[in-house]
Amino acid sequence: MYSQSTVILGGLVHIPVVIGVFSFIQKFFSKRASNFPQDAELKKSLVKPIEQKSAPKPAPVAKAETKAVVKKKHADVPVNIYRPKTPYEGTVIGNYSLLKEGAIGRVNHITFDLKDSDPFLNYVEGQSIGIMPAGEDANGKPHKLRLYSIASTRHGDDFNGNTVSLCVRQLQYEKDGETINGVCSTYLCDIKPGDKVKITGPVGKEMLLPDEEEANIVMLATGTGIAPMRAYLRRMFEPTEKEKNKWNFKGKAWLFMGAPKSANLLYEEDLQRYLADNPDNFKYTKAISREQQNTKGGRMYIQDRVLESANEIFNMIEDEKTHIYLCGLKGMEPGIDEAMTKAAEEKGLNWSELRPQLKKAGRWHVETY
Ligand code: FAD
Ligand code: A2P
Repeated sequence: MYSQSTVILGGLVHIPVVIGVFSFIQKFFSKRASNFPQDAELKKSLVKPIEQKSAPKPAPVAKAETKAVVKKKHADVPVNIYRPKTPYEGTVIGNYSLLKEGAIGRVNHITFDLKDSDPFLNYVEGQSIGIMPAGEDANGKPHKLRLYSIASTRHGDDFNGNTVSLCVRQLQYEKDGETINGVCSTYLCDIKPGDKVKITGPVGKEMLLPDEEEANIVMLATGTGIAPMRAYLRRMFEPTEKEKNKWNFKGKAWLFMGAPKSANLLYEEDLQRYLADNPDNFKYTKAISREQQNTKGGRMYIQDRVLESANEIFNMIEDEKTHIYLCGLKGMEPGIDEAMTKAAEEKGLNWSELRPQLKKAGRWHVETY
């Protein structure tokens, strides 16, 4: 058996060894950081907001934000002005197809008049409204509301500030040899100008734009996931809207858009106009799944485009002013995650660690359905 003094002496003898191991680890990591200075910067920028959370005073820079700051800052964003028990009955003022000849399915742009709402149904870009379709379900109960992302800016498509627009795809699928039409999406695609529609909301604070005019906005959309992005891009680039909102966007906006065919690309003329007028501030990358192929010979999805541009996207993420927005098919989330994981690995980074940090900093925004 060892005596007490032998144990203490043995422990003391190990101290230099432990110090040596620690200093080796430290040297190894600082060397790695100097090999990848951008990675070190990126980690620093992503980790900073979390450290700020426990600090006595938040840093004066209005850069990345903690969840609490984001929450407080958005306290003035309107929510639930109208609820399902007392919805607002809006009048349809427009309903037209957004698709070109040869497109798949049915996608409409639908506008409602809000001017008679009292209290006034106001909203901001990135929010959603609820629609209560007319009629009853199989149990004789009124249909439940469905949510739709708002596709207009708060000033509306006519800039008068009293309308709201949606971008709706009719849900259709086959079951037991029968075509099933989605209840609410079919109701919306079929309504006519003059019809009254029960509207609730607005809801949602996940997809709000940052206030900073210097922010960079990366948008990943599939199909009707373009709806909030259309509102953002109008806010940034539509001349009359800009006059109204006095928000002089100075950052970079990059839209990745997934559609099955060219004829299914939504709001294409507007987007081309924004590109022509703002070549230094707007980038537009398309993934047309049934007309283009990815490197494996499969359908081209937005995650394939993300992977192609991984380096540039990660350079943008390094900037604390960059926000990423995902909207559309829920199914795209694993693909985007996989692409970001691969892209991060190429830079020696770990996406599963970075993503929650971006989320916490209020820079990673997801609304999929
Ligand atoms: P329903 O009649 O409710 O049928 C849907 C049900 O059909 C599903 O729950 C499922 O049970 C079944 N089903 C669906 N597909 C299949 C299939 N292939 N095989 C078998 N069963 C199936 N939609 C838009 O078009 N535009 C938007 O901007 C938009 N924004 C949204 C924003 C948010 C926050 C959320 C949550 C959803 C959004 N949606 C949007 C989706 C929208 O709310 C509805 O879910 C969609 O329109 C379908 O509703 P429906 O009443 O037509 O279908
Ligand atoms: P596809 O249908 O060819 O498989 P829309 O809503 O107009 O149908 O557009 C949705 C787009 O998103 C289509 O191009 C569709 O491709 C594509 N898509 C389907 N599944 C996924 C997925 N898991 N990840 C990314 N994109 C997808």
